[in-house]
Amino acid sequence: MQKYSDAIKKAARKTPHVTGFVPTMGYLHEGHLSLVKTAVKECTKVVVSIFVNPAQFGPNEDFAKYPRDEERDLSLLEEIKGVDCVFIPSADEMYPEGYATYLSVENEMTKVLCGLSRPGHFKGVTTVVAKLINAVKPDKMYLGHKDMQQAVIITKMLRDMNYDTGVVICPTAREKDGLALSSRNSYLSPEERNTAPVLYKSLQMAESMAELGERDASVIVREIKRKLKEEKVEIDYVEVVNPYTLEKTDKISGEALIAAAIYVGKTRLIDNTIIRTND
Ligand code: PAJ
Repeated sequence: MQKYSDAIKKAARKTPHVTGFVPTMGYLHEGHLSLVKTAVKECTKVVVSIFVNPAQFGPNEDFAKYPRDEERDLSLLEEIKGVDCVFIPSADEMYPEGYATYLSVENEMTKVLCGLSRPGHFKGVTTVVAKLINAVKPDKMYLGHKDMQQAVIITKMLRDMNYDTGVVICPTAREKDGLALSSRNSYLSPEERNTAPVLYKSLQMAESMAELGERDASVIVREIKRKLKEEKVEIDYVEVVNPYTLEKTDKISGEALIAAAIYVGKTRLIDNTIIRTND
């Protein structure tokens, strides 16, 4: 039996009608589920969407082969208990014939880091998120730290467009060896899977360097790249930026976001860490 005081605490936390929303592209893993579990704790109603959004994939990207398993996704969500609605729109519903309206954050945020190698990607993301929010009307949206640039851009779009949906950024869920969980990890061959944790390891090394007093972003970037090259992965980018504006940082002071993207074989992986210093 639940204690009376516990019930009051729970009721106080669950203020009336707070709708939490977790947008996803499905093929759910513990990273997605951690967002859903946080939403269930903090909200009275929880909506999860599953939609592989064609608008955020470039012509040569993996839209067609992006992994999908709706049945498994639904049973994972059912197990959590507390998800009230799973919204699975079709591409035709989201983008009916003649669809022509897009929403983009028109500053450097969308052009740097992943925006450089994936032009148009974030326009597809902000467009679909705006459309999903219009359908779900959530009070809070739960996003993952793993896709920090996405979270920053979505937050900016929400503010600029006067949405009153709050954003909660949840920590990156990882495999035991540090590899950030991602639906795209399923593309990795066993050999590539062994190589992939170098991305997180190189970021951990950067954290240690900062802890030991290194403040020069170019030295940190150089060392990360050196470590990545030892594993012969292809580097897309390694950058140190301001975590709120995504502007490049030369000297680490206060908070800095170190973000990296690599190709392991044909699979593109991203990860990041935030460094906090007292100087
Ligand atoms: P998707 O890649 O399915 O991710 C859905 C959400 O899960 C995102 O907020 C992402 O940051 C978060 N996530 C992914 N891996 C995670 C991990 N290892 N730990 C914690 N959170 C993780 O991101 C998208 O879909 C799409 O761009 C979307 C926002 C749904 C718009 O189409």
